[in-house]
Amino acid sequence: MKLMITGGAGFIGGNFVRRMLRQHPDYTVVNLDKLTYAGNLESLQDLEGNPGYRFLRGDICDREKVEECMSQGVEAVVHFAAESHVDRSIVDAQAFVQTNVLGTQVLLDAARRNRIRRFVHVSTDEVYGSLGPTGYFTEETPLAPNSPYAASKAGSDLLVRSYFHTHRLPVVITRCSNNYGPFQFPEKLIPLLITNAKEGKPLPVYGDGSNVRDWIHVEDHCAAIDTVLHQGREGAVYNIGGRCEKPNLEIVRLILRLMDKPETLITFVKDRPGHDHRYAIDCSLVEKELGWSNAIPFQEGLRKTVEWYLQNEAWVAQVKSGDYQGYYRKMYEERDRTFTRL
Ligand code: NAD
Ligand code: DAU
Repeated sequence: MKLMITGGAGFIGGNFVRRMLRQHPDYTVVNLDKLTYAGNLESLQDLEGNPGYRFLRGDICDREKVEECMSQGVEAVVHFAAESHVDRSIVDAQAFVQTNVLGTQVLLDAARRNRIRRFVHVSTDEVYGSLGPTGYFTEETPLAPNSPYAASKAGSDLLVRSYFHTHRLPVVITRCSNNYGPFQFPEKLIPLLITNAKEGKPLPVYGDGSNVRDWIHVEDHCAAIDTVLHQGREGAVYNIGGRCEKPNLEIVRLILRLMDKPETLITFVKDRPGHDHRYAIDCSLVEKELGWSNAIPFQEGLRKTVEWYLQNEAWVAQVKSGDYQGYYRKMYEERDRTFTRL
């Protein structure tokens, strides 16, 4: 299969590219990524020279670039590219609407033109809004996004849905809970806590730390997307979750214990505006219909993630300093001109 992955230089996309080349060595993967602050080719260095892999630097909002990429015999698209951080969407929502909504529409149009056989749209549980102390999000829960990020993802989900109903584009949507694991940008809770604790810096906890998230290891999420790509029903939505609800404060304490650091590092800070209280996913549809289930228990996944961040000091230092950006941008501006066909 010739597979196009958008946003493959980011956290989940990068883990997915690596999985595809490992699990399906006969596949060819082209990775289209704009290399925003969140895109880092350091994370994919081990794939340099792999004959089944190509990188193309480009914006999913750029019709010509998307066409150049998709028209090279691509059969399926897995769409990760997005602005993904809630706090940034509160400061400025422009890039979120541009990439998440408009960029998705550009991809959908290109997918129609190129008769793509499968379009997997990677979305989020945040489109459902927030839960009280009980209950779960199912695929039938009405969309009620609360942050500009979640609203832009909900907008993209609705566009994807409409291309199925109107144009019969063979789409599938996944909605996953909070991911953790290697190569996550340290603005997100778990890598932020680990890297701050290592440096003895304060660990910022929004509000009283009682907000609940449902955590899943990124490799389990990638396995679920792999399953949906190959077996998912056209037009369906699949919730993906870790069956692992935890209040933020519990996560903070677990990490401090794993790193043998004092709880005095915990610092309560002003709450996130509109902070969703609780997410919890009912993922029984993907389990029953497609046979996927989680493989990595949270305690083990978290321990390995802490170890990964401690062992990959150079990656963390590069990301924190922003050094990775200038170097790769320049290199790929050059290489764009000589992009080889799949
Ligand atoms: P990320 O921020 O780590 O990576 C996003 C990637 O997209 C980066 O490589 C970036 O350079 C690229 N990108 C951004 N704008 C682009 C554009 N206009 N054109 C091309 N590339 C562009 O994100 P992530 O955490 O890996 O999330 C990936 C996807 O999964 C997103 O769609 C997100 O909504 C969804 N998701 C994330 C989580 C999570 O916990 N992180 C959970 C559920 C769903
Ligand atoms: O649920 C899926 C979503 O999970 C994805 O769609 C998003 O792309 C991803 O960023 C994530 O969103 P969250 O807002 O839940 O993740 P974040 O890591 O930013 O925050 C997790 C929780 O921790 C949340 O309740 C806010 C809190 N938090 C976060 C940060 C960065 C803190 O208490 N302190 C912090 O410094």
